[in-house]
This record gives sequence, C-alpha cells and structure tokens, in this order.
Amino acid sequence: MSDRTLLLAGNWKMNHDHLEAISSVQKLAWALEDAKLEEGSCEVVVIPPYTDIRSVQTLVQGDKLWLKYGAQDVSQHEPGAHTGEIAASFLSRLGCAYVVIGHSERRADNHETNEIVAAKIRAALSADLTPILCVGESLEQRQERTHIDFTLGQLEESLAGFGADELDGLVIAYEPVWAIGTGETATAADAAEMAAAIRARLVERYGDATAASTRILYGGSVKTDNVSEIVASADVDGALVGGASLSGPDFAALCKAAVAK
Ligand code: 13P
Repeated sequence: MSDRTLLLAGNWKMNHDHLEAISSVQKLAWALEDAKLEEGSCEVVVIPPYTDIRSVQTLVQGDKLWLKYGAQDVSQHEPGAHTGEIAASFLSRLGCAYVVIGHSERRADNHETNEIVAAKIRAALSADLTPILCVGESLEQRQERTHIDFTLGQLEESLAGFGADELDGLVIAYEPVWAIGTGETATAADAAEMAAAIRARLVERYGDATAASTRILYGGSVKTDNVSEIVASADVDGALVGGASLSGPDFAALCKAAVAK
C-alpha cells in the first residue's frame, strides 16, 4: 500500500459554461457529503474550461469546500503579447492547484509537441501549479505492440531538462488515445502494466524518491463501475475522468467507488 493520496480528477473538456459549472460543483459537493467522503480519503479535483474557473473559485472558497480545481491547459509564455493565451501565474492567482498538460486532444487539435509540453510544464512549475502530464498511445501503436516504448518516449521528451528536485509531486496521466470517449477501457491489467513501466522509468531517471512521490493516473472511459478495478493496482493512483465527471452526483459516486476499492 503506497502513501500516495488517491486522486480523482474530472476533466470537463469543453463542457459546462460558468453557470452550469456552479450547479455541477454544488451538486458534487452535496453528493460527496451524502456519500460521506471526506477530505483525506482522496483528493477530488474538477478541471473546468477557463471561463468557469473564477466561478468555481468563488464557490469553493465561499463554501469552504475541500475540492480542488485546475485548468485544462496553460501557455508556455510569460504574460505579454500572446493573443488568446493564458499565463500560469493567472491560474495560480485564481487558486488553481493543477493544470492538465499535453492532453491527446490538444496534441492532435493544436499540434502540441513534446517540446511544447515540456515548456508548458516549466511554466506551470514556475507558478506553483502541479502539472498533470498526459501521455498515451494510439490504437495502431497498441496493435503493433509499440505502446510502451511510445508512451515512455513521450514521457522522456516531455520531461527533458528537468531535475528530480523540480518534479516532486508531479502527476502523470496514462490515457491511451483509443480509450478516450469511446467506451473502450484499457483493462486493469493494461493500465497496471503501463503505470509500472512509467514508474520504473521514473526510478531510472530521477531516483526512488521522485518516482515514489509521483502519482500515476489512468484515463479513458473510466466510469463508476470500472474505477475500483483500475485503481486497485499498486501503481495506479487515481483516474482522469472525462464524460463521467460532468454530472456532480455521478462523479461523486465514481469517487466513492474508487475509495472503496
Ligand atoms: P473519457 O472519460 O470521456 O473517456 O475522457 C478521458 C479523458 O480524456 C480525460 O482527460
């Protein structure tokens, strides 16, 4: 049993405007209370669109909720002439704890390379945000059985240039692209195999302490009825959840199932 705190993060993607966000977080908070999930049993994080974050902050701080929240992306640049970008320092001023970096949808839709991902991780760390670095293979790579090499390659390139002391507390999300939004879930054994390979590589590159403090999540069609099996494996420390995190009560039920694993 590791002493890493179970992390359940809901990536809303481009869903919920700020009014819907308030309702969803309120319902989530009530449902967590009804389910008797308390701070310390796990960490529950919502990751809404940028335009919702201020509303979520007001609610979380005003009602003293123990939920945390984060952003789905961040600019690699310092504040300045970068139209449409959001600086890491802006997110930390809004109380964000986490930022998702290198999600496969951004890698595909916005041509984000591992080099850009590394620059975004650096920006996040400099503003005291914890990156949730996403890696994971395509269906073709899994069928060719190159999935582990590919995913570890993404990991290495995305973390190029960082020292162990900078990466303490990092979160890595293994999200096989073929399992995202498809209803296809990697088996618990697939998730466990990749999480173990990622942790072994972290040991090699950064040593035991950094590897032991890194939380590795699985993401891809995680639901209430499959989460406990997935997080039961020693190296899987939680889940990055898309569709099943949009409804507050459903996400609370998923969190409860994960804690009860
Ligand atoms: P789904 O849970 O909807 O498959 O999304 C997973 C994901 O991409 C989370 O970041």
